[in-house]
Amino acid sequence: QDSPLTDTFGRHHTYLRISLTERCNLRCDYCMPADGVPLQPKANLLTTEEIIRLARIFVKQGVRKIRLTGGEPTVRRDIVDMVAEMKALPQLEHVGITTNGLVLTRLLLPLQRAGLDSLNISLDTLKKDRFEKITRRKGWERVIAGIDLAVQLGYRPKVNCVLMRNFNEDEVCDFVEFTRDRPVDVRFIEYMPFSGNKWHTDRLISFKETVELIRRQWPEFEALPNGPNDTSKAFAVPGFKGQVGFITSMTEHFCGSCNRLRLTADGNIKVCLFGNKEFSLRDAMRSDVSEEDLVDLIGAAVRRKKRQHAGMLNLSQMENRPMILIGG
Ligand code: GTP
Ligand code: 5AD
Ligand code: SF4
Repeated sequence: QDSPLTDTFGRHHTYLRISLTERCNLRCDYCMPADGVPLQPKANLLTTEEIIRLARIFVKQGVRKIRLTGGEPTVRRDIVDMVAEMKALPQLEHVGITTNGLVLTRLLLPLQRAGLDSLNISLDTLKKDRFEKITRRKGWERVIAGIDLAVQLGYRPKVNCVLMRNFNEDEVCDFVEFTRDRPVDVRFIEYMPFSGNKWHTDRLISFKETVELIRRQWPEFEALPNGPNDTSKAFAVPGFKGQVGFITSMTEHFCGSCNRLRLTADGNIKVCLFGNKEFSLRDAMRSDVSEEDLVDLIGAAVRRKKRQHAGMLNLSQMENRPMILIGG
C-alpha cells in the first residue's frame, strides 16, 4: 500500500496508542525507575488541541483504532472530553483505554457516555496486601470494583497481569479462576525490560511455563483462534465465561503482524515499543509546518521502523524510555 502509515516490510499501521500523561497515581517498580521520573514542564507536553489535531491527521491517513495510555491516562482531567472528540471522528472505529482502574468507579460512566469502546485494566495480584506492596499505594478494592462496574455497564474488560517470579507466580490459577464466572479476559504478560526497571531473565515467567502450570489444574485448557493483529494468544478453560490470553513479547514476539504506532505525552512519534529513535511531532507542529509536511514526517518515521525488536537479551541492554513514559 502506498500510504505514509505502511512501513518497508508492508505492515500497515491502523492502530495508534496515545500517551496522555507521564504521571501515575501508583508506583509499580517494574514500570517506574526507583527514583521516579523527572517531571517535564507542562509546556513540553501536548495540549488537548494538539492531541486532537494529531489524532485527526492519523485517522485521515488510515488509523482506525486509538488507545489512550499514560502514565495513567485518567490522571489527565480532560480524558472524557478527549474520548468524545475522538469518537466524533467518523472514520475512527474504536477508542480504548489502558488504565490501572483506580478511579473507574468515578469515571467509567462519563467515559461510556463519551463513547469509550473498551478498556484494559492492569492488575497484577488478587491479594490486597500484595497490591499495596507492588504499587506502594492503597486501592485494590477500588480496582476490583472498577472491573465489576465495567462488566455491569456491558463491557468485556481485559485484565492485564504481568507475571514475575517470586512475586505473583503462585496466583496464576487464581487469575484463571477469576474468569470462571465473569466475562473478563485475563492476559498474562511476559515481564519486559525497560530503562530502570531491573529486569532479569530469572524473573521472566514464559508463556510455555505458564500454560503448563495451568494445565496441571485444568488439562482441558485450550488454545482459541486469534485476530490478525492481536498481541495476545487466546486460551480458555471450556465453560468459563472469560478467556485467558498470553502476551509473549519476550519468548515469541509478534512483530510480523504489528500494526501499532505510538505518540508519547511529550509529542514524539515512537514506531516501536522497543525503538529508541523518536521524532518530535510537537516541535514540528509548533513551528507551523503544514499538514502535508507533518504527514511526510510521520511517513519518514514509519519507514525507519525495524522488522522486529532486537531480542530479549539485547533489549535488556538497550536505551529506551522507562515504561511509565511509553504507556505499553
Ligand atoms: P488491545 O488493544 O485490546 O489489543 O490491547 P493491547 O494488548 O494492545 O494493549 P494493552 O495496553 O492492554 O497492553 C498489554 C500489554 O501488551 C502491555 O504490556 C503492552 O506493553 C503490550 N503491548 C501492546 N502493544 C504492543 C506491541 O505493539 N508490541 C509489544 N511487543 N507489546 C505490546
Ligand atoms: N513488562 C510487561 N508489561 C508491563 N507493563 C508495564 N510495565 C511492564 C513490563 N516491564 C504493563 C502494565 C499495563 C500495560 C500497559 O503494560 O501492567 O497493563
Ligand atoms: Fe511492533 Fe515493536 Fe511491539 Fe514488535 S516490539 S510488535 S515491532 S511495537
